[in-house]
Amino acid sequence: MEVLMHITYLVAAVLFILGLKRLSSPKTARSGNLMGASGMLLAIIATLAFTQILDWTWIIVGLVIGAAIGAFLARWVAMTAMPQMVAVFNAFGGGASALVASAEFLGYLEPGIAAPTFVISLTIVLSVFIGSITFSGSFLAWAKLEGHWERAITYPGGNIVNGLVFLGIIVIGAWIAVMPGVPIEWFIVLAVLALIFGLMFVMPIGGADMPVVVALLNSFSGLAAAATGFVLDNNVLIIAGSLVGASGLILTNIMCRAMNRSLANVLFSAFGAHVEAVGDGDGRPKIAKEINAEDAAVLMSYSNNVVVVPGYGLAVAQAQHQAREMSDLLGEKGVTVKFAVHPVAGRMPGHMNVLLAEANVPYDQLYESDDVNGEMERTDVVLILGANDVVNPDARTKKDSPLYGMPIINADYAKNTIVVKRSLNPGFAGTDNPLFYKDNNRMLFGDAKKVLTALVSELKRM
Ligand code: TAP
Repeated sequence: MEVLMHITYLVAAVLFILGLKRLSSPKTARSGNLMGASGMLLAIIATLAFTQILDWTWIIVGLVIGAAIGAFLARWVAMTAMPQMVAVFNAFGGGASALVASAEFLGYLEPGIAAPTFVISLTIVLSVFIGSITFSGSFLAWAKLEGHWERAITYPGGNIVNGLVFLGIIVIGAWIAVMPGVPIEWFIVLAVLALIFGLMFVMPIGGADMPVVVALLNSFSGLAAAATGFVLDNNVLIIAGSLVGASGLILTNIMCRAMNRSLANVLFSAFGAHVEAVGDGDGRPKIAKEINAEDAAVLMSYSNNVVVVPGYGLAVAQAQHQAREMSDLLGEKGVTVKFAVHPVAGRMPGHMNVLLAEANVPYDQLYESDDVNGEMERTDVVLILGANDVVNPDARTKKDSPLYGMPIINADYAKNTIVVKRSLNPGFAGTDNPLFYKDNNRMLFGDAKKVLTALVSELKRM
């Protein structure tokens, strides 16, 4: 029986790895997701079938409630709210690991039960520590993504206080791990300190950096699960936890590289806390020229090529369908249209690709920044839809800009640019954008969906 269980776990692990591999491309992502989910189903069935279950009641109650909540969320949560959903899932994953490890700890306190080995005690401590941080930190990340306490909240000496709390956790954790029989009160103090640390760790990070934090907390939830796998001596939990831990870290790294920022800068610099005034860079208000939908439609339809740069504002406005319709109409008029997708356009990795795929924009119309940057001088119009930081030329030239060094889409090199947004307000980095005041730029103010609807009707009339 045990051999059969381990073989099933092995098959599940292979499915997890193949699933992860397929998730790396939008074309194969759906089947990758299905493979991962099938692997998890197999692992659950094997665990329930091959271990001795004393009471099925709570298992069935948990399965029914969990499946109902999962089905509801999968059906009803909007694409723009995906980062929040991932944050909540991470919180539950971390919380579950911490609870299971705590239950094991309590089990060892029963009279007549031998004290746990050092490895078991250590993994219990790690599971409670990492799981609790993930739980509270992820819920705060969720709140920030929902728009509460969005800006980085800091106070003088905050990093030192955080360091001291962290040190306290390490000391208590080490004590529990090496000295079996430590009073349970200290175990509770450890869990409470870890919960508080999770909040303190996320509080000083700005709302728009939350995707990086969510990816990191996702990695933590995997590590907590792997630690719990050691506590329970369950191989599939160790493998699944390690895969989540590693992939979360890789994703965190990819995001930091695309922003040209270190993880330490994301976690400790309170990025975006300072918002610059707009239009007054040289002491005098700068003037941004405007254009209306009719003139913008004429300019684009008489162009040879148009590059569309979608950003966070397009996602907020849910204007992807109107963007595709506009692109189709321009295509019918003989204009070549490309969508230039910056890796951190929006608020989560792959956000723009998913939105545009949902609106049936063909994959071969999607380009990465580097693929379009080389031909910018020959591009007639770049239409920037609710994007800001990803086209800010200061990232190339202004050494004291928070964006300095971030690879951008060089829209300012094109013959003309049109920026669609509601105001001259800065984007996430809180810094003014000199592109708005260039001679060959026009601002088309308004909500992205309304502006695109107007552009579509103008193009249809022409
Ligand atoms: P942002 O620089 O944040 O600019 C988005 C712009 O959209 C805003 O300036 C806003 O201007 C406009 N906007 C908002 N709602 C709108 C609406 N309904 N209609 C039209 N415009 C609207 O976005 P971006 O250029 O996509 O850059 C993303 C930023 O997020 C980068 O700084 C990046 O580093 C950061 N970030 C991204 C990620 C990932 S993984 N994607 C992770 C961490 C951080 P108005 O208010 O004037 O309309």
